[in-house]
Amino acid sequence: MTQTFINKPPIIIAHRGASGYRLEHTLASYELAIDLGADYIEPDLVITKDGVLIARHENEISATTDIANHPEFAHLKTTKIIDNEIKTGWFTEDLTIAEIKTLTAKERIPQLRPQNLVYEGIFPIPTFTEIIDLAQHKSQAIGRNIGIYPETKHPSYFQSISLPLEDTLLLSLQTVNLPIFIQSFEVSNLKGLSRKTDLPLVQLINDTGQPYDFMINNNPRNYADLLNQKGLKEIAEYAQAIGVNKNLLIPRDNHGQLLSPTSLIIDAHAANLQVHAWTFRNEDFFLPLDCQGNPEQEYQSFFKLGVDGVFSDYPDKALKVKLYE
Ligand code: G3P
Ligand code: CA
Repeated sequence: MTQTFINKPPIIIAHRGASGYRLEHTLASYELAIDLGADYIEPDLVITKDGVLIARHENEISATTDIANHPEFAHLKTTKIIDNEIKTGWFTEDLTIAEIKTLTAKERIPQLRPQNLVYEGIFPIPTFTEIIDLAQHKSQAIGRNIGIYPETKHPSYFQSISLPLEDTLLLSLQTVNLPIFIQSFEVSNLKGLSRKTDLPLVQLINDTGQPYDFMINNNPRNYADLLNQKGLKEIAEYAQAIGVNKNLLIPRDNHGQLLSPTSLIIDAHAANLQVHAWTFRNEDFFLPLDCQGNPEQEYQSFFKLGVDGVFSDYPDKALKVKLYE
């Protein structure tokens, strides 16, 4: 099979699909991302009461589904503490896959993406199996391998309620012959996965805070501590890449203007780690001050720096800059 875009850096990871154009984490969003030339599609994974992996950014689904309009599920509305945050709403672990399949997706940020409102009420919530099937089918149909870049969401929490994500994830990928990266903001589940699979793993790193599993294990280290030479060396023992908040590569000042780049890409490469950066979006709301109205400029800055991959809500824009600018 031809590899038109795959492995030609930087890879373009369609963040929640082509989520600027379609409702995030729907098959329509992933399919459009593939058609727009993305190298990988990125499902965030949570799990249902009966152990089925589905694509949602959170296990609390009131912001991205129409569950609030389903009176039959009103009794399931509740409050929980998830990763040290109080959340009120409906949780995937309280619904079966059959129940989840009666819901449809809705736009998370309607004020910024009114173009997606026309799709509300149409698209169901996809299972991870359906996403894999789509990637395999599209790879065959268009003659290039589409990668899949799943993220384990809230892994310690799901472990704590006896619905661990990892074994089901590996089982789902067992016979998949497509490029894969598995990502997590936590450390211990990636270490566990590294003992069970040769698939490449990505340590996600935010610009503030600490991995939730560090918090519950009284480990005082935070994300910043993972980025010094010792921390990167430790990550390289179980992962192949870091997936970083792009502010860690090119910070912004108090006005939102880009500052000088850090040495993180150089340091990570020295530790034999690829660097994938998130999240690139077209809207001025998200862009640095110096790139307002010009998202291409932001990609150019990061591509010039040598980033190995970008997560984008608009993968066509990332591809256009990669190929032509
Ligand atoms: O997975 C990395 C990137 O997606 C940023 O995280 O919060 O959008 O899942 P999030
Ligand atoms: Ca993600």
